[in-house]
Amino acid sequence: MVKICCIGAGYVGGPTMAMIAYKCSDVQVVVVDIAAARINAWNSDRLPIFEPGLDDVVKACRGKNLSFSTDVEAHVADSDIIFVSVNTPTKTRGLGAGKAADLTYWESAARMIADVSKSDKIVVEKSTVPVKTAEAIEKILTHNSKGINFQILSNPEFLAEGTAMDDLANPDRVLIGGRETPEGQRAIAALKAVYARWVPEDRILTMNLWSAELSKLAANAILAQRISSINAMSALCEATGADVSEVAYAVGKDSRIGSRFLNASVGFGGSCFQKDILSLVYICECHGLPEVAHYWKQVVQINDYQKTRFVNRVVSSMFNTVSGKKVAILGFAFKKDTGDTRETPAIDVCRGLLGDKAQLSIYDPQVTEDQIRRDLATGKFDWDHPQHLVPSSPTACKQVSVVWDAYSATAGAHGICIMTEWEEFKNLDYKKIYDGMEKPAFIFDGRNVVNVEELRKIGFIVYSVGKPL
Ligand code: NAD
Ligand code: UGA
Repeated sequence: MVKICCIGAGYVGGPTMAMIAYKCSDVQVVVVDIAAARINAWNSDRLPIFEPGLDDVVKACRGKNLSFSTDVEAHVADSDIIFVSVNTPTKTRGLGAGKAADLTYWESAARMIADVSKSDKIVVEKSTVPVKTAEAIEKILTHNSKGINFQILSNPEFLAEGTAMDDLANPDRVLIGGRETPEGQRAIAALKAVYARWVPEDRILTMNLWSAELSKLAANAILAQRISSINAMSALCEATGADVSEVAYAVGKDSRIGSRFLNASVGFGGSCFQKDILSLVYICECHGLPEVAHYWKQVVQINDYQKTRFVNRVVSSMFNTVSGKKVAILGFAFKKDTGDTRETPAIDVCRGLLGDKAQLSIYDPQVTEDQIRRDLATGKFDWDHPQHLVPSSPTACKQVSVVWDAYSATAGAHGICIMTEWEEFKNLDYKKIYDGMEKPAFIFDGRNVVNVEELRKIGFIVYSVGKPL
């Protein structure tokens, strides 16, 4: 029986390994992590992440061919294939701070693999890493060579949160990069055999290591670029009276462009788009390509501009001050169907409004009060570096309340900001909400989910991204 071990039981490691176990009943899969609380949660009825469909898959395999453990070294030692799916955040200190990927977690995982291994292994880069990382990893793995053969493969993950299980069950493609040597090709074939159990062969792409590593950064950069492109258009729409939804529809009808990923918004969030583009920018700079670096940096800059523009719109519409005014924040997660708040635009918007002394009442169906308070107190990029976390400021605490439904969040509020496109926000009783609010009552829809005409009929003053005012 092939044994697979995955280091890192996070948003990628957990769901990905659960899917492999589900589709390959004769493969033993163990997910290991140094975070005991996370492993305990994976072994409980309340999984550490919310992802539609994940519970069923985990329940079907856990205790059979899927397990979760903190016994990292023992499982690594007796596995044939080791996926490394640890976090690769943006560096916050030292060379490349604010741009380069921090490979500390990766390096310590690689050193541990080298130290405990007693047999040949295939080591799979599942984390998103800078191009050429495999070369560095090879050096680390072989630093105390005991005659063990390590084959490094790049197998980046393309799942999106909220649709992870569907993405894993039916991926557009699976990418496997490896060395162009006979050993490298054998390793590629071994990993391909795992995916081929449920992924059609023509969707399993094999290529050289550097192409695979770079393809992941390129895919995220181009996806984020589409969002920044439509968001840049949304500013022009507001200035001219065009409607960004109509523009996106018309543009997307061109089959060369396609309609997906053209929803204007308050800005993209999530743990990866910004981090991966900044990493790409840093790599370009290191390779003496400042023009290319500058080009991609604009994608992040437009995203920051969009968030600032949203805050400015809220404050200027509400008579240039929100000081002491209650503002309801509906949604805090970076997108619907996830409880993940990493780099969510809600954080920047809330900070902007708190800076103008607003009283915020925040509601998200999947995000806990603890998480929200931690996020609002954490410095940029620091959320994935626990050693840099600072205690939350008492002033910010007093200005924020976290509630458990949209109606209490909006009661007595002057304005509402919709930050996440949760389905329930489309179907709220807006008449009831309007009646309970201060007047004039404002809605700022950062996700274009509400029916503007209907809300205006009720009496709301509505601002939707990229729509005529
Ligand atoms: P995560 O923070 O949710 O999980 C990473 C886990 O690795 C953590 O639980 C951490 O405790 C563990 N870890 C760190 N160092 C370790 C070590 N030395 N030994 C054992 N465990 C260790 O991160 P994630 O969202 O799962 O992302 C992981 C990687 O996948 C990142 O490179 C990310 O860019 C990439 N990625 C993420 C997504 C996504 O949707 N979140 C999608 C595609 C790719
Ligand atoms: C994204 C990619 O879609 C995945 O392919 C990739 O694997 C992953 O990053 C990663 O590497 O981590 P994810 O961040 O989970 O997945 O979610 P997306 O659906 O891409 O949304 C990202 C952000 O963009 C969200 O805040 C979303 O609301 C926003 N968005 C998305 C828009 O504002 N407009 C759109 O049209 C689409």
